[in-house]
Amino acid sequence: KEAAFQKDLAGKKLLVTAGPTQEAIDPVRCLTNHSSGKMGYAIAKMAMLRGAEVTLVSGPTAIEPPLFVKVVTSARDMFEAVTGLSDEQDIIIKAAAVADYRPKQVSEDKVKKKDDQASIELERTDDILKYLGQHKKQGQFLCGFSMETKDMLRNSRAKLEKKNLDMVAANNLKVEGAGFQGDTNVLTLITQDEEVSLPLMSKEDAALKILDKILLLTTKAEA
Ligand code: CTP
Repeated sequence: KEAAFQKDLAGKKLLVTAGPTQEAIDPVRCLTNHSSGKMGYAIAKMAMLRGAEVTLVSGPTAIEPPLFVKVVTSARDMFEAVTGLSDEQDIIIKAAAVADYRPKQVSEDKVKKKDDQASIELERTDDILKYLGQHKKQGQFLCGFSMETKDMLRNSRAKLEKKNLDMVAANNLKVEGAGFQGDTNVLTLITQDEEVSLPLMSKEDAALKILDKILLLTTKAEA
């Protein structure tokens, strides 16, 4: 089946991010999220099968890493890896679930419990996608992901504008078959001009739909 893919992304350099980030609290604990990395890995695999030159930057996941993956831990590591590679990319797809906050202090030693309540002071991480939108190269296509639990279209369209993106792949965590852990997704592809709602499908098929749309839009832009 794999040989049957048309190499319609040949000559394109494509960067994908996947998975969660981990923000250290102390040597034994971190803040993270439930991202499995499956959506981003599926995009990387399908883009590779269609002939693109793929780089995958991933947070820690349970997926066996392919050869072209660079595994990072924190939002700061991901920022550095991605911005070091972004200038030369034709297409960047940010499927990673990057932490918005990290502990302000990282304790060198394990934090010991006390009898009373505890709290952790948090500071913002850099928004990698926003940075990429601000430094977008001529002709570069930038696709973000958006995971919402309500007002999905409105919130996702706001991200398209705010981060200067060409497309947002949005999913509602509360929809059956969508979200972090499973092998399926229910995506809406949002661009300046339209919203395309895809039915429930495997993450690999959803990846192909995302790539189809990007190819269509970038070919249109070149013509
Ligand atoms: N993203 C990023 N760097 C961050 C945070 C998010 O690059 N520090 C990217 C993700 O990879 C994803 C998109 O931004 O492509 C998600 O947008 P974001 O506005 O961060 O979503 P939420 O955090 O869910 O937004 P909100 O807090 O407004 O719900």
